[in-house]
Amino acid sequence: MKKLIIGGGLPLKGRIRISGSKNAALPILLASIMVENGVTLSNVPNLRDINTTIKLLSLLGCAVEQNQGEVKIKPQNLLPEAPYDLVRTMRASVLCLGPLLGILGQAKVALPGGCAIGARPVDLHLSALEQMGAEFDLESGYIIGRCQKLRGAHIHFDFPTVGGTENLLMAAALAEGETVLENAAREPEVVDLANFLNKCGAKISGQGTSIIRIQGVSSLSPCKYRIMPDRIEAGTYMIAAAITDGELFLEECPFNELDAVIYKLREMGVWIQEGKTGVLVRRQGTLTGVDVVTLPFPGFPTDMQAQIIALMCIAEGSSMIKETIFENRFMHVLELVRLGANIKLSGQTAMVRGVRELIGAPVMASDLRASACLVLAGLIAKGKTEVYRIYHLDRGYEKIEQKLVNVGARIARVNV
Ligand code: UD1
Repeated sequence: MKKLIIGGGLPLKGRIRISGSKNAALPILLASIMVENGVTLSNVPNLRDINTTIKLLSLLGCAVEQNQGEVKIKPQNLLPEAPYDLVRTMRASVLCLGPLLGILGQAKVALPGGCAIGARPVDLHLSALEQMGAEFDLESGYIIGRCQKLRGAHIHFDFPTVGGTENLLMAAALAEGETVLENAAREPEVVDLANFLNKCGAKISGQGTSIIRIQGVSSLSPCKYRIMPDRIEAGTYMIAAAITDGELFLEECPFNELDAVIYKLREMGVWIQEGKTGVLVRRQGTLTGVDVVTLPFPGFPTDMQAQIIALMCIAEGSSMIKETIFENRFMHVLELVRLGANIKLSGQTAMVRGVRELIGAPVMASDLRASACLVLAGLIAKGKTEVYRIYHLDRGYEKIEQKLVNVGARIARVNV
């Protein structure tokens, strides 16, 4: 078990290259099992969730070659089972349901359990796949899915679920006839998946809007595809620049995908300028409190909620943040309070009153974005902050200590 030790108070200055997007790479890796002659993906980040997905691809019967950020995947003798051991460590494994049903007509995928940020059911995935002709049973904790050939359907999601939209995009790509997804998720990672599938010969239009049309094709052909940069990693480093009163140039930062975050950071007093090869970020004067509500894209992302709370902690005046996507996503708040933050929770809303300084202490990470929030707080907390359970961080932030050390942070990973 490792922990991070952070010496706070140093302004970060320099350049950070933004890695490929975890949440775009995961469904694209899994969609690759539908491409008979294989695909080559580049800009794949080196993360724990990616390694878990690659393990799953091997178990499903794919040959996988990984070299730096390049991953080659070729399906061989496909098997329909995603075991609980993998699904419990990464619930995104459920994204193999759509591709397996699409290509094999059967799937056995462990039902993901609860996770630290809430119940996260997959009912919307299943009912949409049922409308395409799949049938499901639950046996010993596994979702057993079967179908003849999936057929196109007109599907209306009750909620614009990201994973549900992705599962359906993959299932519909090889289905018979046209599928229309209404109230589909508009997240950039959904668009990246649709663009990848189209590059393989799928016929998808409307991605990035709430109505997506998929005309099923009989097969997909090999392609090379570069994964989009990670907007959540980029947003996290924007806050690192602002919170430490430093100046960071973020190379390959997906500026246009960060509108809602940039809007709020500018309102708080952060200067953000897009350049040809990246984005320059620095604080401009005193930070002031803001109100934020998390929403599906293009609203403020729930995956940036924890990080912006860290910034709110030291902004002048009051801030309010309401979480509307997940029901239990404020675990980091009590840890921030241990560092001296003034935050009151009331249901799904956090009220933050800015304090003059945070003071280092041992804190416990509860999930991926909560860990990022605690690292950000540690970067300005006076003295030493120790962040425990950093295995969460390794699920989603590539080389985070190296990236931070390179721009002047004092941060080290040590054995507990
Ligand atoms: C994805 C992202 C995650 C992000 C989230 C919201 C990946 C791997 N993960 O998660 O980082 O925080 O989008 O932007 O891309 N829901 C149901 N039934 C369903 C599906 C979802 O009730 O069948 C609920 C969930 O419990 C949650 C909400 O809908 O409260 C949003 O979930 P969803 O958009 O599906 O998120 P994920 O795809 O799990």
